[in-house]
Amino acid sequence: MGGIPDLKALEGAVFSSQTERLSALLERGLGLAPTATNVDAFLEQCRHRAAGLGIRDDAYFDLLEAGGPSARTEWMALSPVLTVGETFLFRDAALWRLVERTLLPDLARLTRPLWLWSAGCSTGEEAYTLAIVARRALGANAFTVLGSDVNPKAVAAARVGVYTQWSLRGVDHDRLDDLITSGTQTVRVHDDVKAHVRFDTHNLNDPNAFPPAGMSSFECIICRNVLIYMTHGAREKVIERLASCLTPGGVLVLGHGEAQGIVTQGLVIERHDAGIVYRKPLQPTSIKERPSQPKATARKPAARPAHAPRTSKAVLKTRSAHKPAAPPAEAPIDAERARRLLDEAVLQARSGKADAAERIAASAMAANPLDPEPHVLLAALFAARDAFKQAEAALRRALFLDPACIPALWQMGTLYRLTNRDRQAAYTFARLLARLEGLPPDREALPFDNLTVNELTTLLRAALGEPADA
Ligand SMILES: C[S@@+](CC[C@H](N)C(=O)[O-])C[C@H]1O[C@@H](n2cnc3c(N)ncnc32)[C@H](O)[C@@H]1O
Repeated sequence: MGGIPDLKALEGAVFSSQTERLSALLERGLGLAPTATNVDAFLEQCRHRAAGLGIRDDAYFDLLEAGGPSARTEWMALSPVLTVGETFLFRDAALWRLVERTLLPDLARLTRPLWLWSAGCSTGEEAYTLAIVARRALGANAFTVLGSDVNPKAVAAARVGVYTQWSLRGVDHDRLDDLITSGTQTVRVHDDVKAHVRFDTHNLNDPNAFPPAGMSSFECIICRNVLIYMTHGAREKVIERLASCLTPGGVLVLGHGEAQGIVTQGLVIERHDAGIVYRKPLQPTSIKERPSQPKATARKPAARPAHAPRTSKAVLKTRSAHKPAAPPAEAPIDAERARRLLDEAVLQARSGKADAAERIAASAMAANPLDPEPHVLLAALFAARDAFKQAEAALRRALFLDPACIPALWQMGTLYRLTNRDRQAAYTFARLLARLEGLPPDREALPFDNLTVNELTTLLRAALGEPADA
């Protein structure tokens, strides 16, 4: 008491209270789970925005905390550096087959035109994929797609609808005629598809932003690879809001594991081979009203695209060439060969032949570029010789291909631990724990290490300092 103040302790306290304030703000504004990296990026960007507005950093934080229209604009301006925008066309082919062949034909019995929403669409590939499969399933003029994202730069790129060949990885050849490939580099979405899609900026974490774009309710909402970056509390609220925007009978499609640990109230879970779908049950009143409703044009979008959807002869020809019964051509990948090569690479790795294992894992990747597991094996081989940067890059590639990949999440958490990034390790382990929830305890979780779900859960709880039977 009354002695010389401990400046280092004081500095530490100020630093940690600022970190706490920033972490709380990140969750409040965008729903994001704070990590060391995004908190740093957030602070830097806030300073930049505050300088641009000619106000002090604290005043800028106050503005974000106060909410309201200015804060809303600022969150959108901050979002490009805080969010991950990775996406590609027809990402998860099995899911799109389910949407095209089962979900949309069934939803078409509810109303016309169908309103479909790709929430968190990044640069638009998911929204355009939805429009392409909807046009095949329902025909032109039978639907409108809304693509929305909090990141205005991504939305601007989505409106343009021009991509590189990399956006086409894994696309079946029979999907290409809705896309125009020019030269060797560029892929452009056909105007007949674009006419069905509109884009808007929209923050899923803003309770006042629902329903979006003046569209009252949707028959199908797709929100994938968006919630994985959010806290449990934010995911819960976003799912609740999305559910409130569903037409009775409509479906919500989330990414793998994104609703883990969340009770999706008022939605019925449907399990399909391609994944889980959450359906809002038909209410008795809407069943009664259905026969008296006009079949078509039951309603109009509040703000349609300026140009009405067109049905050119070319489109009709294309569609009749794609009658629903025609099975899609196989993707140009050889999954079976890739699996055999991967097994061989694991054998080599286990007998200490790391070079051979690396070479064979690379061949497995070439045989199936969409499989995350060879990247995970490579990461393990890199980490074993302390090449942590290379290991991390390999794991990022694996998690890009499958954000819920269990072995990749486990290794990434372990790598963070090894390199003293404890917050990121804890966040990754917590994400993995949520991913394991509900899986059969005896199921194999880490094939390379022969660990079951139960054993891995125990390890993770220990790593997170939680009681084993929590
Ligand atoms: C990894 S991309 C996923 C794109 C696409 N859904 C897919 O699966 O390919 C995640 C997108 O979610 C968006 N996002 C993150 N937080 C959001 C929020 N609070 N509201 C709306 N979009 C958000 C990001 O800007 C980013 O474009």
